[in-house]
Amino acid sequence: MSGSNTSGVQSFITYVVLGVVGVPLFVFMVAKLYTSGSGVNLGLMTMTNEAIQARLQPVGTSKVVDSAPIGQRSGKIVYENVCISCHGAGLMGSPKFGDSGAWGPRIAKGYETLWTHAIKGFNAMPARGGSTDLTDDEVKRAVAYMADQAGAKFEAPAVATASGAAGAALDPETKGKEVYESTCQACHGTGAAGAPKFGNKADWSAKLQGKKPEDVIENVLKNGNGAMPPKGGYSGSDDEFRAAAHYMINHAK
Ligand code: HEC
Ligand code: HEC
Repeated sequence: MSGSNTSGVQSFITYVVLGVVGVPLFVFMVAKLYTSGSGVNLGLMTMTNEAIQARLQPVGTSKVVDSAPIGQRSGKIVYENVCISCHGAGLMGSPKFGDSGAWGPRIAKGYETLWTHAIKGFNAMPARGGSTDLTDDEVKRAVAYMADQAGAKFEAPAVATASGAAGAALDPETKGKEVYESTCQACHGTGAAGAPKFGNKADWSAKLQGKKPEDVIENVLKNGNGAMPPKGGYSGSDDEFRAAAHYMINHAK
């Protein structure tokens, strides 16, 4: 009796242990199986970092994972998604990221040679780091990003964002100034023919009095005013005319 009782207690404990440890473990492993492939990477314990990187390194198949559209990805993004797989650790004799000793002789070749090599490939360095969807400018940015971390001062092609490009084209202080100097200055520089003179606060506030600058600008843009011809005779875009008008108004405050 006592014997069967003991075995009853034992099997009870076995079930408890199975329930408490076994079932969650089983669930955990099944979950792992579905969420991360094999899950546990035993290789991590026995392989050196370099060996792991070499194994993870699918030459020719890497893709840049980033939300920026193709052509507008920064050097940093390209480096972190593509070039890092070799240059991060200096694999296969590649100049290691941040290692100015390794990069010094490379930098001495000049930016143009370096990006040409990076685009076309160079010995064990695959063309575009193996990522064929990179544009020339993106590769150039990545080259500058890596080289600059090692002491170079390369000027990479700028990333043109839609708003940045439009904003720069219409900036009163740049485009506006340019249009002013090419066209508006003829009258507004001296105040000829009764034009409000550049930099003259009283002249300009008389024209703008009680009106919104935008309305005043739109009016002379379309209709002109007295000796002021429509658009000031300017042949470029309406937005460029507006930029020039804002440039003058901004400098009469
Ligand atoms: C598969 C590994 C690998 C990847 C990925 C890789 N490189 Fe390289 N890279 C190399 C190796 C190896 C060298 C050294 C080649 C040599 O000097 O013989 C090198 C050299 C370079 C050089 C120096 C060239 C010269 O003339 O000295 C530049 C610049 C460069 N890589 C840029 C990049 C850029 C940018 C990326 C990412 C878009 C990238 N690499 C991705 C392996 C790689
Ligand atoms: C041929 C001479 C002349 C040129 C060139 C000229 N303006 Fe004028 N502008 C005038 C005169 C004159 C007035 C004053 C009109 C009035 O109030 O009777 C004026 C007025 C203005 C005003 C104030 C609005 C108003 O109704 O008075 C703005 C804004 C303006 N010009 C912008 C420009 C811009 C921008 C350019 C260059 C793209 C330009 N102008 C080129 C002669 C000129």
